[in-house]
Amino acid sequence: MKAVVLVGGQGSRLRPITYDVPKAMVPLRNEPFINYMVNFLRAGGLEGVVLSMGYLPDPIQDYFERWDMGGFSIDYAVEDHALGTAGGIKNTEAYLDGGPIVVVNGDVLSGLKLGDVIAKHRESDALATITLTSVEDPTAYGLVEVDHDMLVHRFLEKPAADEVTTNLVNAGIYVLEPEVLAMIPAGREVSIEREVFPYLQAEGRLRAYVSSSYWKDIGTPRSYLAASHDVLSGVVGTREDFDYLQVDQSVTPSKGVKLLPPVSVAEGCILKGGATIGGRSALGRGCVIGERALVEGSILLDEVEVEPGAVVRGSIIGPGARVGQDAIVRGLSVLGAGCIIGEGNVLDQGVRINPGVVLPPRSMNF
Ligand code: GTP
Repeated sequence: MKAVVLVGGQGSRLRPITYDVPKAMVPLRNEPFINYMVNFLRAGGLEGVVLSMGYLPDPIQDYFERWDMGGFSIDYAVEDHALGTAGGIKNTEAYLDGGPIVVVNGDVLSGLKLGDVIAKHRESDALATITLTSVEDPTAYGLVEVDHDMLVHRFLEKPAADEVTTNLVNAGIYVLEPEVLAMIPAGREVSIEREVFPYLQAEGRLRAYVSSSYWKDIGTPRSYLAASHDVLSGVVGTREDFDYLQVDQSVTPSKGVKLLPPVSVAEGCILKGGATIGGRSALGRGCVIGERALVEGSILLDEVEVEPGAVVRGSIIGPGARVGQDAIVRGLSVLGAGCIIGEGNVLDQGVRINPGVVLPPRSMNF
C-alpha cells in the first residue's frame, strides 16, 4: 500500500518561517520534519509515498534527491494552483495502483501504529477511516462525534466552549478506498474535511479510529515549538541510544559554555565564552552564540547569530536572522529569515517579524 502525504499548503499560521521554509522542511531536533513522516510511513509497512505538493516544492524534492530510500518509493505530484486537501489527493492518482491508500497531513507528528488503523479499516465496509485523537482544548479544532459502533456521527467546526460534546479531533491520518478518489472532481479545489467527509458521513460510510498514541501537529508556532520540545525530550520516537546532548562533533564550545540537556547543536555552530544553551533548544547548522548569551527552549534554524548578552527564550528564529547584543526575544516570538533585531530591543508576546526586516538598535541610555 502507498501513502499520499499532503505537503502543498502555504502554512500561513507558521509564518514568517514558512515564507522561506515549507512546513514539511522545518527542523525538529535538526532533522527536517518530512523525515519523521517517512519513518512513520515505513514503520507502518507502507511501500512508498506520493508527495502532494504545491507551495514551495523544490526544497522538499531537492532534499530527497540526496538520499537512497532503499526500496521505499517517493513520487512527486506538483499542482500549479492550490487544489485543497481532496484536490491534492486526486492529483496524485497517476502514481497510485488503484487500491486503497493511506493519506496523511504533512504536518502531523504521530506515534500511531499505522498498521493497526489499516487492519481496522479492512475489517469494516467503510469507504474511509479517519483517525481521531483527543486534545485538551478542542475549541480550536474541528470536532468529530462518533457513534457507539465507531461510525462518524457529526462534524462540529471550532465550537464555543459550551457546545463542546467531545474532545476528539481529526488527526489528519486516513485510509481511503479507491471509490473515494473516484468521487473527487479533478483539476479544481476540493476540501476533504469540508466536502468529502461530510458526504461520506451522511452516507454512513465514514468510520473512525480513535488513537491514544502521541499526536501533535506542527501547524502553529506554539504546537511546532511543543513538538520540538517533545522530540528533544525523547517523548516520541525514542530509541535505546537516544542522545539528550546531541552536539555535532565539529562543535567545540568555548570556555564557560553551559550546555543543558536536552539540546541539539548542529554542525559548525560556534558557542562563545559563557553562553548558555539549554532548556530543550535546537541550534541549526552554523549558528553563532555570543559571549554570555542565553538560548532556552527555542528553535534556531541555520546560521542564526545571537550576539553577546542577548536572550532567546521560547521562540523560533528563522534562518540567517540576527539577534543583536543584549536584545531579548521571548514569549513565542517568531523571526523570519534574515531579519536583524538591533541591540537592546525586547520582543515578546508572540510578535512576528517578517523576513529581512531590520529593527534599529534601541537606545540603552534612558
Ligand atoms: P495554514 O495555512 O496555516 O492553515 O496551513 P496549511 O497550508 O498547511 O493548511 P492545513 O493545515 O489546513 O492543511 C493540512 C495539510 O494539507 C497540510 O499538510 C498542507 O500542506 C496540506 N494542504 C493544504 N492545502 C493544500 C493544497 O491546496 N494542496 C496540497 N497539495 N496540499 C494542501
